[in-house]
Amino acid sequence: MITKTVECRYCKSDFTVTGNPGEKLSIPCFNCNKKNVVTFSDKGGEFVESVPVSYALEVSGLVKIYKNVKAVDNISFKVRKGEVFGFLGPNGAGKTTTIKSMLDLIHGDAGQITINGLDVRINGKEAKKLVGYLPEKVAFYDNLTALQNLLFYAEMKHASKDECKVLIEEFGLGDAVKKKVGTFSKGMVQRLGVARTLLGNPPIYILDEPTEGLDARGVVLIRNKIKELKQQGATIFVSSHILSEIQAVCDRVGIISKGVLVAQDTVAELSKKLNLKPKLTLELEKVSDAVVDAIKKISGIYDVKTIGCMIHVVCDSNISAKVIVAIVNAGGNIVNLQTQTPSLEEVFLKYTEE
Ligand SMILES: Nc1ncnc2c1ncn2[C@@H]1O[C@H](COP(=O)(O)OP(=O)(O)OP(=O)(O)O)[C@@H](O)[C@H]1O
Ligand SMILES: [Mg+2]
Repeated sequence: MITKTVECRYCKSDFTVTGNPGEKLSIPCFNCNKKNVVTFSDKGGEFVESVPVSYALEVSGLVKIYKNVKAVDNISFKVRKGEVFGFLGPNGAGKTTTIKSMLDLIHGDAGQITINGLDVRINGKEAKKLVGYLPEKVAFYDNLTALQNLLFYAEMKHASKDECKVLIEEFGLGDAVKKKVGTFSKGMVQRLGVARTLLGNPPIYILDEPTEGLDARGVVLIRNKIKELKQQGATIFVSSHILSEIQAVCDRVGIISKGVLVAQDTVAELSKKLNLKPKLTLELEKVSDAVVDAIKKISGIYDVKTIGCMIHVVCDSNISAKVIVAIVNAGGNIVNLQTQTPSLEEVFLKYTEE
């Protein structure tokens, strides 16, 4: 069998097809359902045709139903190679269900998932070799030490055993190398879990709430590691509740709510779509009516509020300088100034409001 990713000649979306060497098939596009003629190479003995794919992860039309709960409802997204994609959603939104389906740990009721162009249902073993996976509930052998555990997983992943101690130390568990994992705190287990994910230096990482249970230093460790992996060209798919962390490291985010992917884009673009405006906070020696009137006259100002010596202005991003000039011209004396771009938290709350 040959698996390859092709571009639909009608809607231009990518989808993965499977066939036998030499076969010519008419296959409907996953997205628009129009038929595309696909020819498979007739080179015999080939298991997977090597085709350049620009997406590390592709999820098309994923549906997962638990009894009468539609945990994931027709989700589609693509993660480019080298991209950090943040996956956000409230509790019970369907993040873990999506992630488990991506790794073929549970089977969706519909949809297709590819990792580096490999269909996880067909070439699961090959596909999963490319991924470092951090599950939501990290588990180890309690009666083995941290090092013994990682050595075990290193062998399974055909990773170098030398990496184990280095990773344990990197994640701040140097003093616990020889301690049994059963005696570890929750955060220590999580740190060891992240270390295990990195074994073998895979090109793709799927991390389900990596900062769960970690202290502030642990959170910074993860953030820096994600940045480092990205610099090395890795692709990272990360679900998280800590929105500021996601905002700090992600190229794009997807927001899932009640099983539906309600938005996906950069934080800046999502803010734009929601018409979220930056906020300008100015502290003046004294706030006069003349100063407030001068600010209100500028076009691109949406709201002006004064509290004591503070003025809070909601405005277009490019008019901060005009606000400052207007205040000074109206006799105001600025003591302090702060600009706040729309936060991921605002975007998240808007997209997931009840
Ligand atoms: N094994 C299961 N059997 C039945 N229902 C399930 C099962 N696993 C998940 N669900 C349901 O599917 C929905 C999505 O759950 P999921 O664990 O994917 O959410 P999540 O976004 O990861 O939430 P959290 O942020 O709390 O981890 C929830 O309604 C949950 O109750
Ligand atoms: Mg979850």
